Amino acid sequence: MVVGTIKTLILGASGMLGSDLCRVFPDAVKLTHKDLDITDRTKVIEFIKRIKPDVVINAAAYTNVDVCEDEQEIAFEVNGHAPSYIAQACSDIDAILVHFSTDYVFDGSKKEYVESDITNPINVYGQSKLMGEQEIIKTTDKYRIIRTSWLFGKNGKNFVDTMLRLSKEMETVKVVNDQFGKPTYTADLACKTAEIINLDPGIYHITNEGQCTWYEFASEIINNTIPCSSEELTTKAKRPTYSILTNTKITSMRHWKNALKEYLKESQL
Ligand SMILES: NC(=O)c1ccc[n+]([C@@H]2O[C@H](COP(=O)([O-])OP(=O)(O)OC[C@H]3O[C@@H](n4cnc5c(N)ncnc54)[C@H](OP(=O)(O)O)[C@@H]3O)[C@@H](O)[C@H]2O)c1
Repeated sequence: MVVGTIKTLILGASGMLGSDLCRVFPDAVKLTHKDLDITDRTKVIEFIKRIKPDVVINAAAYTNVDVCEDEQEIAFEVNGHAPSYIAQACSDIDAILVHFSTDYVFDGSKKEYVESDITNPINVYGQSKLMGEQEIIKTTDKYRIIRTSWLFGKNGKNFVDTMLRLSKEMETVKVVNDQFGKPTYTADLACKTAEIINLDPGIYHITNEGQCTWYEFASEIINNTIPCSSEELTTKAKRPTYSILTNTKITSMRHWKNALKEYLKESQL
């Protein structure tokens, strides 16, 4: 399939990744949270069956990892149950479902994770996202689940912007140096999504190349960061020590440092 000749529906269109997907799929039907609440089963199924897309891309999710610990019901509703409603509608009309998941479905006890590795989330967000994956796989054969990590992009709250702000507000910015992952630029991920639609159903690990700690990531953004441990800087949700996704299925994307340079240049314009 070629982008432009297929009818595509994007859910979560105003989110960080959703906004970049809208640029890659300009002709798609684009729905924001205001347009359609994906937890409304009846409306989701009715809408998808009415417009009959060839491909549904779900970028809607409840993404605040720490808030998920207190808001478990909403987290499971949006990240766990809603994907099954979307998958049901896709199955009924034989559409492809592209859905995004996370490195946080793993517990971090292994240094790198391939697509087939055993999941074991250690926080509510990861548990709810894993439920979403499982519901989709149970409901439709035509799924592409894209696990990704540490997203930054133009249209959303992200680590890069937070570092730039804190760097101005504080003399030094403490950042954890004992959690390892792969930063990923949403503009790159959105382009790769178009490729994945044409591949076989399954789970894909898609990130920019290269791995680092949050501190190493911060050091590429600002000059006044200092390293600390996760024990020193506790958060409501536990995070895996290692959440490095290894892609074994598709050509890799550029290094995160190159993607970051482009993002920083473009965000100054
Ligand atoms: N951000 C990361 O670092 C990261 C890492 C790994 C995986 N992911 C996954 O990548 C995907 C995209 O993440 P993102 O960072 O782009 O997320 P985001 O910026 O938080 O966007 C999510 C979008 O979903 C919408 N939404 C929330 N609840 C909804 C509902 N009930 N019905 C319809 N829309 C709803 C939000 O709208 P409102 O804001 O108006 O509620 C928002 O526009 C998600 O599946 C996420 O789990 C993200």
